[in-house]
Amino acid sequence: MKYLVTGCAGFIGWKVTEFLVVDGHTVIGIDNINNAYDVTVKNWRLAQLQELPQFHFNNIDLCDRPALEQVFDETYDAVINLAARAGVRQSVENPWVYIDTNITGTLNLLELCRAKDIKKFVLASTSSLYGAKNPLPFSEDADTNGPLSPYAASKKGAEALCHSYHHLYDLDVTIFRFFTVYGPAGRPDMSAFRFVKWISEGEPVIVYGDGKQSSRDYTYVEDIARGVIAGLKPLGYSVINLGSDSPIVLIDTIRLIEELVGKKAILSHQPFHRADVRATWANIQKAEQLLGWRPQVSFRQGITALVEWYQENRDWVKDIPTE
Ligand SMILES: NC(=O)c1ccc[n+]([C@@H]2O[C@H](COP(=O)([O-])OP(=O)(O)OC[C@H]3O[C@@H](n4cnc5c(N)ncnc54)[C@H](O)[C@@H]3O)[C@@H](O)[C@H]2O)c1
Repeated sequence: MKYLVTGCAGFIGWKVTEFLVVDGHTVIGIDNINNAYDVTVKNWRLAQLQELPQFHFNNIDLCDRPALEQVFDETYDAVINLAARAGVRQSVENPWVYIDTNITGTLNLLELCRAKDIKKFVLASTSSLYGAKNPLPFSEDADTNGPLSPYAASKKGAEALCHSYHHLYDLDVTIFRFFTVYGPAGRPDMSAFRFVKWISEGEPVIVYGDGKQSSRDYTYVEDIARGVIAGLKPLGYSVINLGSDSPIVLIDTIRLIEELVGKKAILSHQPFHRADVRATWANIQKAEQLLGWRPQVSFRQGITALVEWYQENRDWVKDIPTE
């Protein structure tokens, strides 16, 4: 099979691409290597992928329609759209780039799927859509009309466009709402990476709130990649949570990393950010029913792998900014 993966130098796109190629497929990857976070990490992931023979890379912006059209001179068994502006708090600072990539970029891809008669589209969406008012754990049919950030609002827009293209053109669409993905070579703007770096380097560990009131349903990146690939089969129009069904309180995440790194955290408490969701927890019954998917990697195993990766790559990772 031949797949188009957008955001292939990103954290999740990198693993999805690797797993597809290892499974014997060809992947055409797109990424614009933007500086939403330090590009050294993106280039490191890309270098791993470029070792793989069935991987071909295009440095293209999803908003550049003429360049994107050229990539669609070939046909694909599916388009997997993992490219996005992905930070919750950063989306408050510059919402426009979120609308450009997450909504217009998704629209550009959907239009090309329609024009080229590509049958399958996968969209990365987010647990952030569940906002503050839904009962825990979050089910896919919960109310997503109260996004707390431009990031969440942009994903709501992308999901809605996918529904229109499914309705109008019978495009088979699988939307995954990921829950806090972590693992080796993860995003430096996310908590797992930051906590490992800050504790390892003796830097202050920024905690929004008291650390006891917020929790995250962390999901290991390889589990996420397996789920995305399982979702490539025809499913009509489906929205599916990929999470762990096992939320971890923030302070317990810090305590585990302290134990694995062998150092105490220097906590620096800051006020809770209004754009952040306090707690996430995934109901994953739908993923189990439709895909036979359950996460395989425990939080301790996953954080251990992240800490080991950090230690192996510390010579360059210690200098990566965490904003
Ligand atoms: N990591 C998580 O915890 C998480 C949780 C929920 C949803 N998601 C979603 O999963 C997807 C992947 O997230 P990630 O954590 O790998 O993020 P990431 O930022 O590491 O990866 C996204 C990649 O897309 C690329 N990109 C961004 N805008 C682009 C554009 N206009 N044109 C081409 N490439 C562009 C970036 O350079 C980056 O390499 C995103 O859609 C994100 O919103 C992630």
